[in-house]
Amino acid sequence: MKVLVVGGGGREHAICWKLAQSPKVTQLFCAPGNAGIAQVATCVPIKATDVDGMVKWAVENKMDFVMVAPDDPLALGMVDALEAAGIPAFGPRANAAIIEASKAFSKELMKKYNIPTARYETFTDLDKALSYIREQGAPIVVKADGLALGKGVVVASTVEEAETALREMMQDKKFGASGSTVVIEECMVGPEVTVLAFCDGEHLVPMLSSQDHKRAYDGNKGPNTGGMGAFCPSPNYTPEVAEFCVKNIFQPTVAALKAEGRPFKGVIYFGLMLTKDGPRVVEYNARFGDPETQPILSMLDTDLMDIFEACVNSTLDKVDIKWKDGAACCIVLASGGYPVSYQSGYPISGLDEAGKKATVFHAGTKLNDKGEIVNAGGRVLGVTATGADLPDAIAKAYAAAKPISWTDMHMRTDIGKV
Ligand code: AMP
Ligand code: GLY
Repeated sequence: MKVLVVGGGGREHAICWKLAQSPKVTQLFCAPGNAGIAQVATCVPIKATDVDGMVKWAVENKMDFVMVAPDDPLALGMVDALEAAGIPAFGPRANAAIIEASKAFSKELMKKYNIPTARYETFTDLDKALSYIREQGAPIVVKADGLALGKGVVVASTVEEAETALREMMQDKKFGASGSTVVIEECMVGPEVTVLAFCDGEHLVPMLSSQDHKRAYDGNKGPNTGGMGAFCPSPNYTPEVAEFCVKNIFQPTVAALKAEGRPFKGVIYFGLMLTKDGPRVVEYNARFGDPETQPILSMLDTDLMDIFEACVNSTLDKVDIKWKDGAACCIVLASGGYPVSYQSGYPISGLDEAGKKATVFHAGTKLNDKGEIVNAGGRVLGVTATGADLPDAIAKAYAAAKPISWTDMHMRTDIGKV
């Protein structure tokens, strides 16, 4: 099969790395890809959000299957457009990807179908939102409705902080149109766990549980990022928690989307908080998480192409999905200054040595005109190792990351430990 993966980060490298191992996949392409992905797939210079360009290329080059990984092309209807052009595509259609693209939609869905989540109200009027915040008091959580690169959420510990966040979103349009509608919700407390699940519109198969680390610095300090590292499985996700989540959250979500005429095919990302009153949904995403995908796919034994096809063909109940024993850990190596501002173009050394000890997924890299691999994004690499248990996987990932360096490189030293 000729397969195209859409995207160009660490998540897409992990997906390409796994698909390249499938005997079914004879030719693998990735658009736009990056310098690491180029080692396992042919990169195609089309932007992930260029729906028309992507479909045109896929048709002209006779792709048998397309996997759309990032949130924005899903929300823009890339899967719908590929299907209309007769190409099977993995990922939700726009009308199901809305569970990530609109927080107001997903909160309403949860309310309607009794899926446990934080109490909330939705606002389009700044004054009403401000008076609601003053009435509720702090701590309180303010969220821009639409996609905001994972940065449209403010967990405010004071009313003033919440008011500032609201003004930035609704008045100053910090996140553009994404902030015209805001969701204000109760602040929940407890450990966070992520569960990704394959879905075929009707059936759902959860993957191993995982946790990521969103803050930039050690001790969960500093600004929110896309994720500075991740590991799986999560020790907090006990069999009892899993049973509750499948019954009260995962299956009801898939059934709710189907009942609403928005059957979900692809990966649902359940961001969960284990509160003292039980697991609650923090957020839904309509895709694989990044960096969670790197450790998770490192633990997958089953052919990923078989799973993707089963999701598209609604035959997921016929696939036996198997995982390795033990654990996996991914350490993100970032450009100094990320997520605020950083310099790109520094040559990276130590990649070959690191690659002997672990899998080094590339997130933001490219080749310069001298043929050197240089940093080309905020998150640059995801050094990912599997081990007999979590401490072993963490130790192996850090040992593998050690020889890698470039000017101003930054990583957290406590991934998996806090
Ligand atoms: P989200 O983009 O919705 O995942 O939010 C980003 C982060 O904000 C989450 O991973 C949580 O740590 C935090 N967060 C979001 N909603 C809440 C909430 N209702 N209570 C406490 N923390 C929250
Ligand atoms: N790591 C968080 C996300 O992918 O949304």
